Amino acid sequence: MSIILAIESSCDDTSAAVLQDDTLLSNIIASQKVHEQYGGVVPELASRAHQQNIIPVVDGAIREAGIKKEDIDAVAFTRGPGLMGSLMVGVSFAKSFGQALGKPLIEVNHLQAHVLSHFIHKPESPEKPEFPFICLLVSGGHTQILLLRSHFEMEVLGQTIDDAAGEAIDKAAKIMDLGYPGGPVIDRLAKEGNPDAYHFSTPQIQGYDYSFSGIKTSFLYFLRDRLKEDPDFIEKHKADLCASIQKTIVGFLLKKVERAALDHKVRQVAIAGGVSANSLLRSELQRICDKHHWQAFIPPFKFCTDNAAMVGIAGYFKYLKGDFADISLPPYTR
Ligand code: KG4
Ligand code: ZN
Repeated sequence: MSIILAIESSCDDTSAAVLQDDTLLSNIIASQKVHEQYGGVVPELASRAHQQNIIPVVDGAIREAGIKKEDIDAVAFTRGPGLMGSLMVGVSFAKSFGQALGKPLIEVNHLQAHVLSHFIHKPESPEKPEFPFICLLVSGGHTQILLLRSHFEMEVLGQTIDDAAGEAIDKAAKIMDLGYPGGPVIDRLAKEGNPDAYHFSTPQIQGYDYSFSGIKTSFLYFLRDRLKEDPDFIEKHKADLCASIQKTIVGFLLKKVERAALDHKVRQVAIAGGVSANSLLRSELQRICDKHHWQAFIPPFKFCTDNAAMVGIAGYFKYLKGDFADISLPPYTR
């Protein structure tokens, strides 16, 4: 039996979790509101907020788990990728905390952690993906189709050659002045709109790769033309615009995932990362999997966006291997 304390501070959420083996005992997330007024994450403000949040968040996670500091067997932390100033706070804290307790450190890759969140034990749905399976990793910074051969063997079958899917969604929302982060707002407004109201074409990209910067640009030009004729165009057609752009992005994402699963004869498909909270992506993945008699793995909402629980499960698998980190390891941004 092992108790792992996990820390995540790669972007704008400060989070700490405690796991007993693969079971989550606590998962505290402090989201930083300060960035909303700027329409995006301001790195300098993010690292300051992490500095303010880290001790209360870790304290809360330990308290809620009902353990004592001395019960902790290892401290896992996100080493990268992410914002340097943000990572520094979590990494430095984890190192000093581990050092003070005399416990080993475990470094975790943020992207692997998103994928491994599917292995956190859930009493209500105990089934876990079996290797090999495919995972679409879609976050604010990354878009990848991965083939998982084991917990830490992830082959990148395809990825975006420019913007991430989450970035494209956030930019579309910004163009319409819907606030930051745009993903949840577009998701909500799209429910009242007609997804076939407007057509936005997707680029022809080889293999399993993606490109999202063209979709964003064509959306921008389309709106500019319409606004010339009607300054209230966005306000009047917001829901239809959200539904149409969401359908375009989700359709593009899943077309390649379906192809990859067919080509690799894989019968289990998972999604992970912030954009996996999107309701259309979730329902469309389920529909495609049902059609092929595949099994879909869709994470609970709390494990989609950044959280330390996923860092903890990745840490747990490394703990089992005895894969510990040196105290001198620096964070990495990419
Ligand atoms: O994984 P994440 O929390 O942070 C990164 O590692 O980047 O992902 C954040 C991204 C943002 O782009 C946000 O707009 C998007 O996830 N997102 C969504 C939804 N919830 C969050 N995108 C679409 N629909 C949602 N419901
Ligand atoms: Zn993330």
